[in-house]
Formats: sequence, C-alpha cells, structure tokens
Amino acid sequence: MANQIIVNAKTEKSTINRMIYGHFAEHLGRCIYDGFYVGENSKIPNVKGMRTDIIDALKKIKIPCLRWPGGCFADEYHWRDGIGPKESRPSMINTHWGGVVENNHFGTHEFFDLCEMLDTEPYICGNVGSGTVREMSEWVEYMTFDGQSPVTELRKKNGRGKPWKLKYFGIGNENWGCGGRMRAEYYADELTRYNLYARDYGDNKLYRIGAGPRGANYKWTEVMMRDAAMFLDAIALHYYTRIGDKVIIEYLPDGNERYLRDSSKSRMSATDFDESQWFGIMKAALFTEELVSKHIAVMDKYDPAKKVALIVDEWGTWFDNESGTNPGFLYQQNTLRDAVSAGTSLNIFNNHADRIHMTNIAQTVNVLQAMVLTEGNKLILTPTYHVYDLYKVHQDAKLLDFAILSDDYECGGELLKQINGSISKDGKGNINATLVNIDPGHAAEVTCHIADFGMIDVIEGTVLTADTMNTMNTFEQPDQIRPKKFTDFVIEGSTIHIKMPPKSVVLVSVKK
Ligand code: AHR
Repeated sequence: MANQIIVNAKTEKSTINRMIYGHFAEHLGRCIYDGFYVGENSKIPNVKGMRTDIIDALKKIKIPCLRWPGGCFADEYHWRDGIGPKESRPSMINTHWGGVVENNHFGTHEFFDLCEMLDTEPYICGNVGSGTVREMSEWVEYMTFDGQSPVTELRKKNGRGKPWKLKYFGIGNENWGCGGRMRAEYYADELTRYNLYARDYGDNKLYRIGAGPRGANYKWTEVMMRDAAMFLDAIALHYYTRIGDKVIIEYLPDGNERYLRDSSKSRMSATDFDESQWFGIMKAALFTEELVSKHIAVMDKYDPAKKVALIVDEWGTWFDNESGTNPGFLYQQNTLRDAVSAGTSLNIFNNHADRIHMTNIAQTVNVLQAMVLTEGNKLILTPTYHVYDLYKVHQDAKLLDFAILSDDYECGGELLKQINGSISKDGKGNINATLVNIDPGHAAEVTCHIADFGMIDVIEGTVLTADTMNTMNTFEQPDQIRPKKFTDFVIEGSTIHIKMPPKSVVLVSVKK
C-alpha cells in the first residue's frame, strides 16, 4: 500500500490558534538564571539582564506566549518576594528543583520586560498549592489595576506606573500533585474560590485557566467540567512523552485517583538509544491523539458548544538529565528523535484546533525539550527549535479538511502509522502541509491529491532529517542538524508525489 493524502483546499475548519506554538519558562535549573536571565553585569550581551541571543532566536520562531513562573515552582512562589530593589528581595530555597537558593532577582517586572522583548503574550500561573486567596488576588491587582490602592502604589514605587496587560492566568498548577495533592472535587471548589477573587480590572479581562489532569486521568476532566468549567476559559492537561512512566496513583473507592509520587526510575538517555526506544517515544507521542480525543469527548458532554478550551500547558520529551549535571535541573540534550516526536504532537494539536487553543512545550531554555541550550556565552538551536521554525506557517492559519491513509512502521512486532500530518491554508491562500515520517529505516512515498485547488504550479519544500536517529547539535558542532531545502517531489496536475526520507519532518508549501 502507498501512503495517500487527500485534502480539500476549500473546506476550511477551525483556525489554528497561534498559541498552540506557546512556551514555558520555570524557575528550574538553568531556564531562568544562567538561561534567559544572566543579569545586567554579565559579559554575555544582554538587555536588562536578558540574553539577546536567546531573544533573537525565539523571535525568529514567533513564540506567541510564555508561561511562568512554573510548574511546581509556581506552587511555592510568593510574588511579593520578587518585586522591589533586587538587593532587598528575600531568598528562598527552590525545594522542587535541586534545592538551590533562589534570590528572586527575576520577578514580575522582569517577566513582563522579557515578554515585551520577545513580543509574546505573558501567561502567569498563580499559587494555589501554598498561597492564599488574598495573595493571588493582590497579584492580579498589582499587575492589572489602573486605579489607586495600596497595591498599585507599591507597583508605582517599584517603577511601573501603568498596569500591564495580562490575559492568560492559571489558577494553580498540577493540583493533583505538587500543587497540593488535592482530590478533583476539592480542587474544583478551591479553584472556584481563588478564581472569584482574581478580578477583571477595567478592560483587562483574564482568560482563566484551571489546572487539568495528568495524562489519562479522565475523571479529573469530568469533575472540572461538571463543577468548575462555568467559571473558566480553559483547563490545562499535562502530558510528557516518555517511556516507562511509573507514577504511583492511589485509586479511591469513589473512582477518583490520588497522585502520590512519581517513581519513574526507568533511566533513559536523551542521546544514547536503540530503535526500540525510538519506537517507544513515537508510540508515546502518537498516544497524544487518543489522550486528547478522550479528554475532548468528556468536555463535549458538558460543553458541546466548545466554549471551554483544552490547553496542554506542559508537554514534551522527558529523559534522564545529562551526566554530570544536577538531576534536579532536568537538563537534557535534544536529537532528531525529539524533532520527529514534536512534529507528531504538533500535528495532533493542530488537528484538534477546534478545542485545543494553546500548548506550552516544556521548557524553552536548558530544561527538558528545550528550543535552545546555552553554555557560557555559546548558544545552540535544538532540532526541536527547527520544527517550531517549520511549523510557524500554521500560526493563525485555517486547518483544512484532509484524510491520511498511512503505511505501517513495524518494530519488534508492533505497528504504528508511518506518516502523520496537518494541513492548513494561510491568509494568502497558500497551503502548508507539515508531514512526519516516523520510520527510521524506510522512506515514505506519499501521493497527495489537492481537491478544489486547480493545477499546482509552485511548491517550496523544507526537510529536517539526519543520518542517525540521535543526531544532535552540540556546542562544538552546532550545525549538525538543521532544515534543508526539499526537492524530492513531482507535480502531476493537482497531485504531488512526495518522497519523504526516513525519520524526517517535511514542510511542503503549495503556493497560490
Ligand atoms: O516541567 C517540569 C515539571 O513537570 C513542572 O514543574 C511540573 O508542573 C511538571 O510535573
């Protein structure tokens, strides 16, 4: 059987919200300190302490939003410690991530400065786990209230007269786990209470995001939709692509699950792996389809009009930390496997654009599936960065109606679909298809027929691939893997015959 794609150029579905290409920055390892933020006195070129090479790289892939300050860190973060003169900000221990001292030099003002430099929407996650209703309420007031109050006076004293614009606001993080080990019912009540006092000031209307489930906990989604969704704009699923994920969950008699602790001890290298481990990650990435479909089915039951979005504000690969680094810092290298896995997940998110309005890969700089890695004054772009560069054509484009018939990819007697994709039409009428061949051993011959488009004239192609499954960029060899011009296609009327290399991500742009 040959791989076949049929796409209808005139049947536009939902808009692919550009927020699907969102990012996440936590006070974890070297993401903020010695990552985004090196301080004003650093020899590394910076503006207000923010590395200019990181800003330039991220602007190129048009990052639409940035989630901060965590993650689990958000559940121990007290915003008042991160404002005012830096020398008088109190320190804390970052108990979740390596037990290091956090000096709070990067706080609310610095985060908004960073977002401004990146030209990206801020997404702030509030502390439900160890904070108070008053603390969260006053943080929102500090950031967004234009009137006079003790809190806004404080903001003015700290050098910011006008409030900032803040749309995306999370009421907690992983409240089944590091955010308080709550039962879904208990969190739904807490969420409703905290949310009430996080006010909309003036014309600043918050887009309210409740903490969603971990992975396949459909019961959590059910309870959120039943008890809290009427006050929310979105609920946020977390799903990490990893193999051998062993989380200890206590199943309660009423059908609820209580997360106890993560015991995933199956060591797994980010760079040293065989084909079975490649296959395992592809399987975990493709599982995203089943996962989001099942959560969406629960949401559809309570909200058929799709008013409440599903967002996936933490996802990506999670491997062992690189040897010689602090295990609490979650620093991992990034190979072609990460790129193929990210391309697959992003295709799935695009294809559910009617319900999925934002995702945030974890985490932009030096942590987990990062876009960029830094060492001293050096910076490298990861293979995953290049996927975001290819896929930016989908931002705010119209998802088209299409069907894919795929060959199988076999490994160890198990089968997966060899190819996956998503196809959209941009404002100029160009059609962009991002296609992924997950098979590391075989090219994929793909016949793509575009109905209702007429004769195809001009096509541009880009491919991301490499000779080995674990090809990566390093500080010594920063350009081992990067996108190249792709020409392995033949046009025949309104059909394109494409030959995708093994283990590749391909962008085919059909010009109007
Ligand atoms: O991204 C790392 C951590 O993973 C986040 O802090 C937490 O929310 C999740 O468990």
